[in-house]
Amino acid sequence: MGTSEAVLQVLSGAVPRLFHSDSSFSMSDSIHASKFRLKCSRKRASRYLQFLKCSSVLQYGVRGIGSGVPNKKADLSSLQICKCQKSESVSGVTTEDGNGAWFVDNAKNLNPINGMMNTSNVLEFQDLQHLKQENEDLKSNSANGALRDTFHKISVDSIEDEAWDLLRESVVYYCGSPIGTIAAKDPTSSNTLNYDQVFIRDFIPSGIAFLLKGEYDIVRNFILHTLQLQSWEKTMDCHSPGQGLMPASFKVRTVPLDGDDSATEEVLDPDFGEAAIGRVAPVDSGLWWIILLRAYGKCSGDLSVQERVDVQTGIKMILRLCIADGFDMFPTLLVTDGSCMIDRRMGIHGHPLEIQALFYSALLCAREMLAPEDGSADLLRALNNRLVALSFHIREYYWVDMKKLNEIYRYKTEEYSYDAVNKFNIYPDQISPWLVEWMPNKGGYLIGNLQPAHMDFRFFSLGNLWSVASGLATMDQSHAILDLIEAKWVDLVAGMPFKICYPALEGQEWQIITGSDPKNTPWSYHNAGAWPTLLWQLTVACIKMDRPEIAAKAVEVAEKRISQDKWPEYYDTKRGRFIGKQSRLFQTWSIAGYLVAKLLLADPSKAKILITEEDSELVNAFSCMISANPRRKRGRKDLKQTYIV
Ligand code: GLC
Repeated sequence: MGTSEAVLQVLSGAVPRLFHSDSSFSMSDSIHASKFRLKCSRKRASRYLQFLKCSSVLQYGVRGIGSGVPNKKADLSSLQICKCQKSESVSGVTTEDGNGAWFVDNAKNLNPINGMMNTSNVLEFQDLQHLKQENEDLKSNSANGALRDTFHKISVDSIEDEAWDLLRESVVYYCGSPIGTIAAKDPTSSNTLNYDQVFIRDFIPSGIAFLLKGEYDIVRNFILHTLQLQSWEKTMDCHSPGQGLMPASFKVRTVPLDGDDSATEEVLDPDFGEAAIGRVAPVDSGLWWIILLRAYGKCSGDLSVQERVDVQTGIKMILRLCIADGFDMFPTLLVTDGSCMIDRRMGIHGHPLEIQALFYSALLCAREMLAPEDGSADLLRALNNRLVALSFHIREYYWVDMKKLNEIYRYKTEEYSYDAVNKFNIYPDQISPWLVEWMPNKGGYLIGNLQPAHMDFRFFSLGNLWSVASGLATMDQSHAILDLIEAKWVDLVAGMPFKICYPALEGQEWQIITGSDPKNTPWSYHNAGAWPTLLWQLTVACIKMDRPEIAAKAVEVAEKRISQDKWPEYYDTKRGRFIGKQSRLFQTWSIAGYLVAKLLLADPSKAKILITEEDSELVNAFSCMISANPRRKRGRKDLKQTYIV
């Protein structure tokens, strides 16, 4: 059965309880149709507020994350426990941290940051700088290598301690329980915009850091609350996006309690893009949610969350939204500009690599977590078909290295046939002069986007790094991507890891493609700025390929400045020399990204909670596709074809 057939079966009701025969998902038939939701709908109608409500801790357990769950009592008690654990873990953090208690403790004695939970960030920062200056002075005066190492360690440990303190300060509570982390807590910025919200994508490194530290509650709460937001009825100018969309961000608001002016209640207020700058739909949110859900189960050993009926339904709703048939000829996901980390116009509409890598990764994670039950067989088949077709498409058509560039350079065009070599009618003149110079002899990468007559040759970091981590790139390609990163270190890392993309759009290209966006000027922000948060994805990719030293080197580069510069969101200029023009300071995912990189480098085996591998079934199916391809005959011929694509 082909992909579309399988999907059709799924959509036409062959999968009971998952999708309704009517294409509009019926809430009343779904497990999501709890009283709680209906009540929320009434509230929305009367107040025009799309809020998830919770007026007391007791109601939270019953109406909040426990809704739709058989054991509501258990949820409530776990939340109460979670509340107690919160205070324990906050006070415990300063003593359990780091390797080598002597250095850590002594650094803490020297450095007042350890008692700083309630002091201002500015003071903390000055104290840290003072300590660092002292260390620097001592270092330069000392001829003793051991002493120098000691001070280096103290200084690095202080950075880590500071990062943990800042990360904990960024935690957002909902009815007394930790639920996420704020995007930035910049005391120097008067205009917060939406940086005071919990962004789904920004929380991923925070969540991973907490998981690696053994603090699971915040991640569990985040997963379950965002799941409830997923089913929100959302509209923009009377149009509703597909069910299953996860918000880009949400905020905990305190509002007056209905009918009682003297009391207040907390509500969750999600933004699905209807308020975001440019009104961009966050396609990556649901994909990251699935990836975090798997990591939570793998790290905590608690599989009960992924096994919950509402969570299983949530996974399926995301899959349904992604796998649904459209007009597209390609297995890649078709999205608008700004639908991921790059959430402004940057010419990445179409089939951007970042979304494809997250899509592939989420499909693999979902495949691992979906409960085998009657009716999910068709969905799994559709999922498998898509995985194979997607990996084939990306590996074959997105890949460039010297050899491939030379092939494109000599392409014939206007080939009308089934077995055209230049399938997408790429004109060789598209190979930009920068690329001819830039492509190293050893190494290669996956291009940013592919459309008819268009290859976006820019190097997009997150897409490439996550293609390595998820196995969307082959092992050879993955090594080649890391080879390229090493060869192009000065362009991709230089003063601060890691460029979001390379090179920048300049001149007329910048005018036309970004719409003359003053925030995305060349070598700034999304237009080839350097984003420290990318350290964690770099680390996962390097560990997967057994080349952690590359990530360790990047972490060392970051450590030279990141805390001194107050943990900026991004850096500007070709070599990442300036703190970004409009960069937030104390940006949480810069802090968490650094911490995850450090934690994983300290124990690389932990990276397995984020890494996915192809299993033999998929490898077989992929080989069959390769051998069926008229252009490239390779792979084992005797393999049985498992999936029809
Ligand atoms: C910016 C970034 C986006 C991030 C958000 C919050 O909009 O482009 O990726 O999620 O800030 O930090």
